Amino acid sequence: MTTPSTELNLEYRRMVEADLPAVHALSQAVRWPHRLEDWQFVHRLGTGFVAECAGKILGTASCWAYGGEHGSLGMVIVSPDAQGKGIGRELMTRVLRELGERSTMLIATLAGQPLYESLGFVAIGRIHQHQGTVFQLGTAVPPSGERIRPVGASDGPKLARLASRALGMPRATVLDALRKVGDCVVLDSGGEPVGFAFCRRFGRGYAIGPVVAPDTERAKALIAHWIGVRAGSFVRIDVHESGGLSPWLAEMGLDRVDSGITMVRGEPSHVDEGVRQFAIINQALC
Ligand SMILES: CC(C)(COP(=O)(O)OP(=O)(O)OC[C@H]1O[C@@H](n2cnc3c(N)ncnc32)[C@H](O)[C@@H]1OP(=O)(O)O)[C@@H](O)C(=O)NCCC(=O)NCCS
Repeated sequence: MTTPSTELNLEYRRMVEADLPAVHALSQAVRWPHRLEDWQFVHRLGTGFVAECAGKILGTASCWAYGGEHGSLGMVIVSPDAQGKGIGRELMTRVLRELGERSTMLIATLAGQPLYESLGFVAIGRIHQHQGTVFQLGTAVPPSGERIRPVGASDGPKLARLASRALGMPRATVLDALRKVGDCVVLDSGGEPVGFAFCRRFGRGYAIGPVVAPDTERAKALIAHWIGVRAGSFVRIDVHESGGLSPWLAEMGLDRVDSGITMVRGEPSHVDEGVRQFAIINQALC
């Protein structure tokens, strides 16, 4: 058992915007690449909690609701010098209470997995983190009759439907927020969007994701588009192992540098087999 954190005289409270510089420093202390703007993006979409001791933030955890039945949690960090004292567990209790009965997803690091397992989360897959700077352009292109084009003003609801089918949960709010911070291209078949991919500033460079497509070949075409646009820049993409894209990304020059475990608590969402999310937004929003 870990040492009870009551000995530290901790206060647990909701995170506010003014906490973001301090929680950003915490994520830097555990070598996460997030910028302050990346924290702002996730904070404004969800609810965070902090553990504070004498005015110093020692821990943080956040969660996001997708309608009344689904949610995710993440950004779970305890200051390295305060770990193993029960702070992570206490923060988790608060985010889980906030999400209530919702089926909840997370992407765990190896450090976090034992804590999540003890709270009822079950591993259902893996995520591979790829990153690097690519100078060569990709060769993957859409099938004939389909094209990649910039997102249009009227695409929003259609993309939200595709994403919701791929994940089995409402995604309109998250996609609207992404459109404010990133760029999006659509895979168009006969005037209808059949897939899409976002690219935005993140961490040390750019992040590609989410990538939603009917199959691997079309997902490759969408990703190759963004790799081409960002040639010469540092790019990160986190993909589901089950999508089979990892070897191809490594061949393209985006090395696999880390992996996470996809976990769920409660009933897994019912996804539509006809369209899949190949790359996630980030490890918090899944
Ligand atoms: C994961 C993390 C948040 C856990 O926070 P914490 O405050 O240290 O965790 P707690 O003290 O509440 O311990 C919770 C459980 O974690 C496990 N744990 C904690 N410290 C551990 C250690 N040194 N060795 C092995 N397991 C440990 C135990 O299972 C513990 O269960 P117990 O309460 O029954 O003993 C923290 O290690 C951390 O910030 N790691 C770096 C960032 C990270 O990887 N975050 C997870 C993102 S998904």
